[in-house]
Amino acid sequence: MLEELNAIEREGIEALQQAGDTEALEAWRIVYFGSKGRLKQAMSLFRDVPREEKPAVGARLNAVQANLLLAFEQRREAIGAGGGGAARTAGPVLDLTEPGITPALGRRHIISRVREELCEVFARMGFESVSGPELEDDEHNFVKLNIPEDHPARDPIDNFYVDDPATTKRPRMLRSQTSTVQIRMMETREPPLKIVAPGRVYRPDTVDATHSFMFHQIEGLYVDRRVTMADLKTTLFQFARAYFGEGAEVRLRPSFFPFTEPSAEFDMKIALRPGDPPKWIELGGCGMVDPAVFESVGIDPEEWTGFAFGFGVERLAMGKYGIPDIRMLFENDLRFLNQI
Ligand code: DAH
Repeated sequence: MLEELNAIEREGIEALQQAGDTEALEAWRIVYFGSKGRLKQAMSLFRDVPREEKPAVGARLNAVQANLLLAFEQRREAIGAGGGGAARTAGPVLDLTEPGITPALGRRHIISRVREELCEVFARMGFESVSGPELEDDEHNFVKLNIPEDHPARDPIDNFYVDDPATTKRPRMLRSQTSTVQIRMMETREPPLKIVAPGRVYRPDTVDATHSFMFHQIEGLYVDRRVTMADLKTTLFQFARAYFGEGAEVRLRPSFFPFTEPSAEFDMKIALRPGDPPKWIELGGCGMVDPAVFESVGIDPEEWTGFAFGFGVERLAMGKYGIPDIRMLFENDLRFLNQI
């Protein structure tokens, strides 16, 4: 019996060395470890071994089994199980020099980032960021801003009214400008006031490269004693240099808004596409708060003066990042978003 076990071990190890691929290994496994394999046969002979030899033969039987199993595992690793039979060095398959897989990290949308940047720049000049509701009423959107009943800006065709303005006393609407927040601040707080209010506004415009039915504005308001147009100009020119860089070319152009007197438009010379010649682009409006607006919110215009401004956030983003079409900001195409 012991001789038989020695033979199984010797022949088994020799045969393993001949096995060159996965199929040969499997065939070997069936011959030695299969249900009718040589080790099973040896075990069935164990019954007939004389009692006093049983401990020694049993130990040898276990040892042969363990040795063959170990040799089998080593051979399998050497061949590279599942590796198509090509010989490989033993050991874990791990290439430490291979570059890692970069996880795809999301980030904030460009409009959110620009909004934060704008608030940051104005915060350095002492403006507090505040917000107001997007669902407004015509009193905050028009009446208290000194926009008369017959003004074309109040036309139902040009606004998203929620209530019918012809039959409702204080019709609700999606705000068409962030100037509403000026009114809300002056209604609820005492001057001096120094705020900026970024947010969404809505107008039923036909969508094209420069228009959208929803966009963002940032409103500014500074109310104090003896605020002048010079303060307004300094603030806006400093803002432009802080946001766009030292070379920013900006200008104020006389204009009209019902809620400011005098009023101006704030333009900047920018090229929307790299290589295009820079053009004057209107960033928004501004001016000195009209005394009629102060009166509508109960602030004495003899004591207080102020300036206000309202800029388009998309314009500011497009100008700085060279985005030629406003629709790119709302389509959420990752090929675009990943570039900025
Ligand atoms: N609300 C104006 C608009 O949407 C922009 C504006 C102009 C805001 C002059 C102001 C301002 O605060 O003083 O076109």
